[in-house]
Amino acid sequence: MRIDIITIFPEMFEGPFSESIIKRAQNKGLVEINIHQLRDYTTDKHKKVDDYVFSGAAGMVMMIEPVARCIDHLKSERDYDEVIYMSPDGEILDQPMANTLSLKGNLIMLCGHYKGIDERIREHYITKEISIGNYVLSGGELAAAVLVDSIVRLIPGVLGDETSALSDSFQDGLVSPPVYTRPREFKGWKVPDVLLSGNEKLIADWKLEQAIKRTKKRRPGLLDD
Ligand code: ADE
Repeated sequence: MRIDIITIFPEMFEGPFSESIIKRAQNKGLVEINIHQLRDYTTDKHKKVDDYVFSGAAGMVMMIEPVARCIDHLKSERDYDEVIYMSPDGEILDQPMANTLSLKGNLIMLCGHYKGIDERIREHYITKEISIGNYVLSGGELAAAVLVDSIVRLIPGVLGDETSALSDSFQDGLVSPPVYTRPREFKGWKVPDVLLSGNEKLIADWKLEQAIKRTKKRRPGLLDD
């Protein structure tokens, strides 16, 4: 998979993409992530990427020309499955969406700033708009980093068997059951006997029962679908 991110703050991705699973996925060659500084696609000496809103409303809007130049350049080199715009009014990211995107080949992610982007970019270049939740961030960068993480960990080979994404919360429409490790007892708080029983059938039944109980309590909406 190849992911191209367009941003005016490339450094914001340095931490998230140079640690843990995403770092390993890149080192294994399972994903190639390229960060593009939008200002490199400007033609004026101030590298201007924003301008005043027509209509006189307050705030600045991301201009169409640098974004168009950058996306046109990327598209001239390869085809893309989706050109994604990170936006608080996009479709809310969830596990099924991450699953679907993890099967794609090439993705562009555009990070917005200011009051938004010129509507013509959305009309003519963007194929999918994604929000990571009903709150407003200062820009699309943190949202894009979250989206990349949710996708990359699902690419086959990225996680080992022991951390398989199949047992994640939400993959079967339920949140995960509780987990325990040693010691068996701490301050009198015991690990449930069934988990120490060695009986695989009983353990599987217990995990499912706990997952359903937790989902009912914490995320009843998941059970409606
Ligand atoms: N940009 C600003 N807020 C955002 C959000 N909640 N999701 C995606 N992109 C955003």
